[in-house]
Amino acid sequence: MNFKFNDGRDWFFSHRFGLFVHWGLYAIPAWHEQMQWRARMSRADVAKLADQWNPSAFNPDHWIDVAESTGMRYLCFTVKHHDGFCLWNTRETDFNCMNTPYGKDILKQLAEACERRSFPLCLYYSCVDWRHPNYPNQGRHHELPRPLDGDVPDHGKYLDFVKAQVRELCTDYGVIHGFWWDMNVEEHVDPSVNSIIRELQPHAVINNRGYDEGDFSTPERDFDSYGKTTPNQPIEACQSVGMESWGYRKNEDYYAHRHLMGGIDKYLALGGNYLLNVGPMETGALPFQALESLRVIGEWYHSVKESFEDTTFEPQISRNSTVLITRKENVLYVHLNCPPIGDGVKLAPLTLKPVKATLLNTGEPVSFAVEFLPSDHMEQKTCLRLTHLPVNTTSQTVMVIKLEFDDLPDLVIDPGLSEAADEIFIR
Ligand code: GLC
Repeated sequence: MNFKFNDGRDWFFSHRFGLFVHWGLYAIPAWHEQMQWRARMSRADVAKLADQWNPSAFNPDHWIDVAESTGMRYLCFTVKHHDGFCLWNTRETDFNCMNTPYGKDILKQLAEACERRSFPLCLYYSCVDWRHPNYPNQGRHHELPRPLDGDVPDHGKYLDFVKAQVRELCTDYGVIHGFWWDMNVEEHVDPSVNSIIRELQPHAVINNRGYDEGDFSTPERDFDSYGKTTPNQPIEACQSVGMESWGYRKNEDYYAHRHLMGGIDKYLALGGNYLLNVGPMETGALPFQALESLRVIGEWYHSVKESFEDTTFEPQISRNSTVLITRKENVLYVHLNCPPIGDGVKLAPLTLKPVKATLLNTGEPVSFAVEFLPSDHMEQKTCLRLTHLPVNTTSQTVMVIKLEFDDLPDLVIDPGLSEAADEIFIR
């Protein structure tokens, strides 16, 4: 893919892997960030949680430390989720972190730390609002079934509120690198909202879940239609380390590390970005299991990251659908994106022999050969195969094999041939 905006937003294409942080009052009951809706909690009970908001261990530098050691290069933070609680000193509603026992501006501290450390900060903001009297809750996706007593549904007025908050966020917190809208309903289209961001924050990339189509799409939790094809627009996939919730959940089920690595590997190989989410606890500290997931993923990521950096996705090089291939000049990277079923990998129709093959995960050499295999008797053709991969000891990670060639021409499978054909044409 290799997209460019040719303006301040291009940081997005060099920073690629980021930390998503879902944090708010929902960390106190620690069940799900949408507890109000999913567990039918009353608005009044949600409001009472603000009286307990006092995150004594909140330390934005620690969050950035963790992100950096995982290999992440930016952060996206929930300044307002669906419950309407704001984690900054907003003049637009009292329902914010200043009116709590903690009484300090969370976003200010985070934004200052990010600025000091040159760590781009993006802001998540929910379009749906379960608190604001003007938000027209009508039971559409992620809305309350109907307005509550005292609500005065009026989307125009609600948008005035949103715009005023956007202005605050884009004015009072230094450079903002992105705006991550969530859960807009289709009917609510208004490009003038993003125009405010574009005018005030020229570095900000804007996602596609807001009031117009924005700059990039947001496949979530690996349920997407991209498969293994080159995306036709910038994408940033997102996923949480926890299986049920994005906010902190006691007794959360956590994804297997390899499952997360598979998603990260896939989207980064396709040329996209990836946000991996954690939900800090009520205190602001990160849960142990989330830290453990990030630690293991970070070790893996550092070992294989050269296969994503300045590479292009090359789906045409091999017919083997269990692998993804990226390329940088005369180097191919073979990503064993699907859990390997054996210790050999055939790369037909590729028949070129590399001068060197290395398993990036361990730095060890990989043996290879170009030869005719019994399973290819119908075609009577040779292919490049990698052999004796340490699948039984390394299968908890996504393996990436670096193949260095003397000279690698541009390789394409003739599109006119069927999938089974294995001619390689040199352009
Ligand atoms: C899902 C969740 C929402 C979360 C978002 C992050 O849409 O429902 O709560 O904030 O994912 O992408």
